[in-house]
Amino acid sequence: MSVNENKPVIVADNVSKLFLDGTVVAFRQLSLDVRRDEILCIVGPSGCGKTTLLRCIAGLTEINTGQLLVQGKPVAGPPDGVAMVFQHFGLLPWKTVTDNAAFGLAMTGAPAAVIKERVTHYLEVVGLTGFENHYPYQLSGGMQQRVGLVRALAMNPSVLLMDEPFAALDAQTREIL
Ligand SMILES: Nc1ncnc2c1ncn2[C@@H]1O[C@H](COP(=O)(O)OP(=O)(O)O)[C@@H](O)[C@H]1O
Ligand SMILES: [Mg+2]
Repeated sequence: MSVNENKPVIVADNVSKLFLDGTVVAFRQLSLDVRRDEILCIVGPSGCGKTTLLRCIAGLTEINTGQLLVQGKPVAGPPDGVAMVFQHFGLLPWKTVTDNAAFGLAMTGAPAAVIKERVTHYLEVVGLTGFENHYPYQLSGGMQQRVGLVRALAMNPSVLLMDEPFAALDAQTREIL
């Protein structure tokens, strides 16, 4: 691929996000771009705006000023091809591991055979084979986090947003993933 073809997948241009009538600043005048095959890590103390930025890119919350583009289009609701792994897992307590892991892909209307194949594959990748019929309350935090990871990976997203995805994992599993 030539350099010219490698257009940014995510562009933030002078983006600000405020809460509570502007009294709380999540982040201010933030600019960045992320290209295909690039991995960008945002590092900072608790409360510095990491989760909020990811939620804005995922189209789950609106920015106040600036411009935010995903695949060249202004974000207005969840963009196609973007999947997110949530800091607090975001699993549905009444669904099994398999059904939680399938949820994102099922929402896109994918055929059952494709869902089954991808979910089975990624559950194996993260070491959750054998737990398919368990419910979230029967899993450790790290296992729940991995179900959230499978749910995102199963969608084969173009953009994978991960909010402290390895925080709940033990050192060995973190290394493997
Ligand atoms: N829904 C909300 N309403 C009001 N303030 C919020 C909301 N979400 C986040 N904030 C504030 O925005 C700032 C950034 O929070 P957050 O993005 O969760 O930080 P991080 O993920 O880096 O710990 C914090 O001051 C937090 O209190
Ligand atoms: Mg956070």
